[in-house]
Amino acid sequence: MTPATNASSTESTVDGGDMLAPWWRRGVVYQVYPRSFADANGDGTGDVNGLRARLPYLAELGVDAVWINPWYTSPLNDGGYDVADYRNIEARFGSLADAEAMISEAHELGIRVICDLVPNHTSSEHEWFKEALAAEPGTASRARYHFRPGRGENGDEPPTDWTSVFGGPSWTRTTNVDGTPGDWYLHLFDPTQPDMNWTNAEVRAEFVSILRFWLDRGVDGFRVDVAHGLAKDMSFPDLGEATGDILVSEHKDNHPYWDRDDVHPIIREWRAVLDEYEGDRMMVAEAWVRPERLPLYVRPDEYHQSFDFDFLTCEWNADSFRNTIDTSLAQARLVNSTVTWVLSNHDVVRHPTRYGLPQGTDWRRWLLDGPHDILDAEAGKARARAVILLVLGLPGSSYLYQGEELGLPEVWDLPPEVLDDPVWTLSEGTRKGRDGCRVPIPWTADGASFGFVEGDTAAAWLPMPASFGPLSAEAQAGVEGSSLELYRSALAVRKMHFAADEALTWLESPDGVLAFQRGSGAQVWVNVSGGTAPLPEGATLLVASHAEVAKNGALAPNQSAWILP
Ligand code: NOJ
Repeated sequence: MTPATNASSTESTVDGGDMLAPWWRRGVVYQVYPRSFADANGDGTGDVNGLRARLPYLAELGVDAVWINPWYTSPLNDGGYDVADYRNIEARFGSLADAEAMISEAHELGIRVICDLVPNHTSSEHEWFKEALAAEPGTASRARYHFRPGRGENGDEPPTDWTSVFGGPSWTRTTNVDGTPGDWYLHLFDPTQPDMNWTNAEVRAEFVSILRFWLDRGVDGFRVDVAHGLAKDMSFPDLGEATGDILVSEHKDNHPYWDRDDVHPIIREWRAVLDEYEGDRMMVAEAWVRPERLPLYVRPDEYHQSFDFDFLTCEWNADSFRNTIDTSLAQARLVNSTVTWVLSNHDVVRHPTRYGLPQGTDWRRWLLDGPHDILDAEAGKARARAVILLVLGLPGSSYLYQGEELGLPEVWDLPPEVLDDPVWTLSEGTRKGRDGCRVPIPWTADGASFGFVEGDTAAAWLPMPASFGPLSAEAQAGVEGSSLELYRSALAVRKMHFAADEALTWLESPDGVLAFQRGSGAQVWVNVSGGTAPLPEGATLLVASHAEVAKNGALAPNQSAWILP
């Protein structure tokens, strides 16, 4: 097998592509969870200046954009998805001036910036909600949220049977100014996250204004939280079942709050605003909906992208991957969109751990319930290396979650006393929540916080395991065969061979092996089977997930390669 000496010496030109496509159609976006990325001010919590200091690292990695999880003023009851002021930065993360500096420094390095828009709910600390609580029932201040009288003789039963995504009821009763029990308000998530009423004109106008506030500051786009949940059935019927986890795409038809048709006029209004601005501004939806419903969200006058969560939830199984890829590509083509691939984010168990679990394991439950000895961490690690060449080899856009380039696994054994996710308390200790994928990033091989806290002067806000030292960016940078170097070369080679067009042709391959060719002629081979799979003879190896591939000219189980036949 002929190895390509290195990424930059592989000067193959790509033909047949449309190089003028807007950047986001094929862009690679790096997700930053600001609380856990890098801490510049030494308080143990990540911040905007920490992110600014690491921008050169992201530029070297080769990503096109960063998506920053909510950085706005917030009590951080739900990691910032409880926004108290959409036009300012949480003091623990820095200032608005820091954010403006970050946006312009990122742009100087050729990195676009995507903010998180949280329109389904505010924090209970938001001025509007405080005003609503102080106001009488039936007033305009209350009409921005969903306040309803309770049921039962004294109104002491919730207005509907809806339950919170995090656990417990989705209604909380208020107390009137005179101290008597009052109406109830809706919160599909934490009680400190009251849902907004999207039939209210003031709410709609406010979010247009928020979009403009950040667009005027140069942001390139928005990731929209709970994009499928804004519209509620205003007759408030009972649901007849628990809400369950948000991370589920199967909902019954005409669900009273998930995936209702009324969300689409809202999206179109925002899209018109973005289209007024120059420079390919974009929006990506977090919409957990059935695959056949997803294209509705990415119609030409709606969102530009919507995460493909069906791909994220695929088992380590060739049929599962191939069927999802085929369905997703076909659905995207229907509306002339591309697919937005993603393997991990701040809400799910990190994929090296997911792929180390036997098929069929419910990884959310496994965190707490175990048994933990079924985890094959080595297989998971190998599969994570293999799958990134699948993802980055596919047509469309990809989102990487901070630390996945380092191969970080889930920290599934965090002790209960450090858990911060409201899921833990609201589920009354029956679901462990999402802290294990939010453990801070190790930047250096040593130190109390592995360099997460500048100068290691304090411990990180969540404990970091000793195993993170050897996985740090410092320990991997420049080390041939490290996960970081694999990502760096894959991102460089992707630009040359996989980013110019959206064609994909499946190739003949042994059972359990995914193989396809892209418009440039470059091929992607991923061995999801239990046996060895030879690569085509005489091929040039562009990138391999594992060093032995070059020597063997074949893929062992859990290995992958990009080749030129
Ligand atoms: C989805 C976000 O990704 C998650 O972190 C958050 O808890 C919920 N939406 C509520 O905002």
